Amino acid sequence: MNLIVIDADQGTQKISRHIYGHFAEHLGRCIYEGLWVGEDSPIPNTRGIRNDVVEALKKLRMPNLRWPGGCFADTYHWKDGIGPREGRPDMVNIHWGGTTENNHFGTHEFFDLCSMLETEPYICGNVGSGTVREMAEWLEYITMAGSSPMQRLRESNGRTEPWDIKYWAVGNENWGCGGNMAPLQYAYEFRRYQTYCRHFGGKQLYKIACGQLDDWNEVLMREAGRFMDGLSVHYYTFMQDWDHKGAATGFPQAEWYSTLKSALGIEDFINRTASIMDRYDPAKRVGMIIDEWGTWHKVEPGTNPGFLYQQNTIRDAVVAGLSFDIFNRHADRVHMANIAQTVNVLQAMILTEGPKMVLTPTYHVFDMYKVHQDATHLPLYLQSERIEEAGLSIPKLSASASRDSGGKLHLSLCNLSATDKASVEVELRGTAGPKSAEGRLLAAPKTDSHNDFAHPSEVAPRPYEARIEGGRVLAELPPMSVAVVELEP
Ligand code: AHR
Repeated sequence: MNLIVIDADQGTQKISRHIYGHFAEHLGRCIYEGLWVGEDSPIPNTRGIRNDVVEALKKLRMPNLRWPGGCFADTYHWKDGIGPREGRPDMVNIHWGGTTENNHFGTHEFFDLCSMLETEPYICGNVGSGTVREMAEWLEYITMAGSSPMQRLRESNGRTEPWDIKYWAVGNENWGCGGNMAPLQYAYEFRRYQTYCRHFGGKQLYKIACGQLDDWNEVLMREAGRFMDGLSVHYYTFMQDWDHKGAATGFPQAEWYSTLKSALGIEDFINRTASIMDRYDPAKRVGMIIDEWGTWHKVEPGTNPGFLYQQNTIRDAVVAGLSFDIFNRHADRVHMANIAQTVNVLQAMILTEGPKMVLTPTYHVFDMYKVHQDATHLPLYLQSERIEEAGLSIPKLSASASRDSGGKLHLSLCNLSATDKASVEVELRGTAGPKSAEGRLLAAPKTDSHNDFAHPSEVAPRPYEARIEGGRVLAELPPMSVAVVELEP
């Protein structure tokens, strides 16, 4: 028996819309081809940015976009990406396939993309191979309105008005690809770099430090917690672990479960990270910024292993749904999360092939769950049956609920079973009803059902309505499904 009791008149914690954030790195075909095709491309574009992808992403109400990496960020020298494009030096993307890039997508193009997407920019600055001056000047270039060398440089490149930015990270994975630093070394570097990170328009920057696991986070919070607004941590879902990745499609049923088990592990990771943050920041001033998360499978056969291109199935959709339910529950600490990555890389929203584009099952989950953005999280009791499969034990159901600013109640549900439907009874406490429970359902017949260029709508949401009996919702969820319903009290 599955039971959900929602305290509809309770709840104080806002679910930050930034939990539904995105990440686009110079990696494989994410930026180049996926987002940027250049002004001379036959693919319809606006100032070089492809129209079809922008139009699709806009529907998701993306709250922010993280750029330029990832590991790429600590190799990126922003001055190489400004000025007339034909004069920009090229560069070798050392982390991702060793390809040579022409730097045609730089600061101006990124802010243009953000304004087309109506999303907030989130930039990760270069600590690993950069300098304090380089980072400080980038911020001056972006935000300075008055007269200054970087402001004049920006004007000479055609942009008079400064841009606005709030979210700024000081390095990425500096314990690894961002410089192989020791925890104390990075803590001191963070203190030094952030001193010179200014918003020259007088606004407050939200400065994000690079976290990792327990020991690193402990040192960083102790030595530099008071200088940061956010702590960035990453969590990827694997078939088993980093050394045992599985195929994105054509996998055995056991891998459905081991992957979901790995995805559910993010809650333990959040709790461990939060417990260290709580010790140094009991008032929860510092936000947890999970600025890379999602599934990491083996690359599609025949593709460049450095490009991290993978298919996206109903399994990825369920991973997205249950992850959002977990983030919503931890909204008191988790301020931002960014799926890795937006187009053509890892758990993407969109896959492209030349002029063609397809929306993935994960895209649809982002679309369905957007109702939780900036809504108030509602406390919820969930009694779920368990699945004992492939030597693993996981709950059958995942759920979260919220009340939006217009008073609408939304409940999201995932059925994690690959074979069995789930019946769930939902009771609302503290309010009448519900009179109806209507929304959308994403379900598919096979564990690896997916969309491709020939079959773009194999996995697509359809209207969904749950029964109401005796003032309770009686929802039936097919196996492998994600539903989001509005509960009308
Ligand atoms: O998202 C791919 C890579 O994963 C990022 O560049 C890096 O930060 C992480 O290791």
